Amino acid sequence: MLFKKKNTEIDLSSLDMKKVVSDAKLQHIAFIMDGNGRWAQNRGLPREAGHKVGVEAFRRIANKCKEYGIGTITIYAFSTENWARPKNEVNEIMRLLDKYISEAEKEDAENRSQYHVLGDKERLGADLKAKCEYLEDFTKDNPYVVNIALNYGGRDEIVRAANRLIAEGKTEITEEDISSNLFTSHSPDPDLIVRSGGEYRLSNFLMWQSAYSELYFCDTLWPDMDDMDLRKAIVEFSKRKRRFGGI
Ligand code: IPE
Ligand code: IPE
Ligand code: MG
Repeated sequence: MLFKKKNTEIDLSSLDMKKVVSDAKLQHIAFIMDGNGRWAQNRGLPREAGHKVGVEAFRRIANKCKEYGIGTITIYAFSTENWARPKNEVNEIMRLLDKYISEAEKEDAENRSQYHVLGDKERLGADLKAKCEYLEDFTKDNPYVVNIALNYGGRDEIVRAANRLIAEGKTEITEEDISSNLFTSHSPDPDLIVRSGGEYRLSNFLMWQSAYSELYFCDTLWPDMDDMDLRKAIVEFSKRKRRFGGI
């Protein structure tokens, strides 16, 4: 068993991931980064420490995705439901996101990422909202799309789209009307959704866009997420038969 596991790992690490991604037509991976709190608690640390290391894990995974030629990634950073957490934890997550956003601007040249913040920015406060908008504008010509779901809720997003259409005076709408009024209107639907942390649910993430996404769950807690976890998810995706309702 050990031998087999080792063998699989050797195979994974020697794979040409660019080729796997391109053969599998994998354009967009969305990540539900879960397990930061447990990672910290397992070490006797405050939950906030897990979020801090979680940001580093995100950088690592985002860079690998770019290296493998994945054009779009989306990260679930903070949900509309996460405001229910203790104030200290919410404040620390917001501080880390604020820091990440400031650094993303400085790293722009090497990063080559085009950032989009998905979610209602109003609740983030004027300062963070302005930083998000500045980053979006500053990076808009870069090739790799990085969507950060921040104060994001899938149901909230659909309701907003519907309300926008009503405000435009529409009395009958199409699927295309909804899709083009979501926060993700610039991105293809995710081909693959990866959730770390061992829970098997979507937690209000990309409810509309995930209609035909492949789902992949792993037990790794997000701060430990590494290249091998990513490779496993991509290789698993490459073996799936996507039928989109056909045969
Ligand atoms: C995910 O990790 C990050 C956010 C929701 C902001 P959690 O904080 O949910 O970690 P666990 O699930 O409690 O371990
Ligand atoms: C989902 O994780 C939200 C993010 C990753 C930002 P949660 O930890 O909030 O999800 P539940 O509560 O376990 O469903
Ligand atoms: Mg969680």
